[in-house]
Amino acid sequence: MNKKGFIFDLDGVIVDTAKYHYLAWKALANELGFDITLEQNEQLKGVSRVRSLEIILGWGNTTLSQEQFTTYMAEKNDKYLSHIAQMDAGEILPDVPKILNYLQETQQGIALGSASKNARKILQKVGLFEVFHGIVDGNDVSKAKPDPEVFLIAAQQLNKVPTDCIVFEDSVAGVTAANTAGMISIGIGFKETLGHADYVFNDFTEIQTSFINELINR
Ligand code: BG6
Ligand code: MG
Repeated sequence: MNKKGFIFDLDGVIVDTAKYHYLAWKALANELGFDITLEQNEQLKGVSRVRSLEIILGWGNTTLSQEQFTTYMAEKNDKYLSHIAQMDAGEILPDVPKILNYLQETQQGIALGSASKNARKILQKVGLFEVFHGIVDGNDVSKAKPDPEVFLIAAQQLNKVPTDCIVFEDSVAGVTAANTAGMISIGIGFKETLGHADYVFNDFTEIQTSFINELINR
């Protein structure tokens, strides 16, 4: 059987942490005197912490000194981590373990490619840390998605060429990053949002192992 590299985004693909990012950013916006909607939150998916705060400040027509900016960044992360502290394996999204098990059984390369600087902590909390042969997160890259750097480093860690890699992503920027890297992109979410992906599924319950086999044997 062929061996491919399967690279997973974390937030919104393996675990539904988008809701915790949203709660933390919303609380911060409220402190600054405005609100952010769930719709606006969609635009923050896959976006780095710094860039997210810049975007949110733009929505609220608010400017901060460099010092305040740093303080709010830390405050957001503290709030986010207070939610993360409660996480366990129950928060792994449906059928993600089914696909991970199948990839392990067939001895595929498995890596993480996330923008989050909290990725390792979250994988440990949900008990998936050991599953990954490679982990690339927000601490390891100099350029954020949609730049392909995160996935190219993950492919290197798996010892695979980009054309032998498959990326699972829920964000617009992440799908673009995978496409630019020359990898097969699989969008997890809505077709309307992720139409630029090679394939789109609502979630992993829609992904059969026969489809994974097709990808492996391409
Ligand atoms: C991405 C999330 O995975 O990581 C974004 O989709 C988040 O919402 C980004 O801003 C950075 O995460 P963290 O945990 O380093 O603040
Ligand atoms: Mg994501």
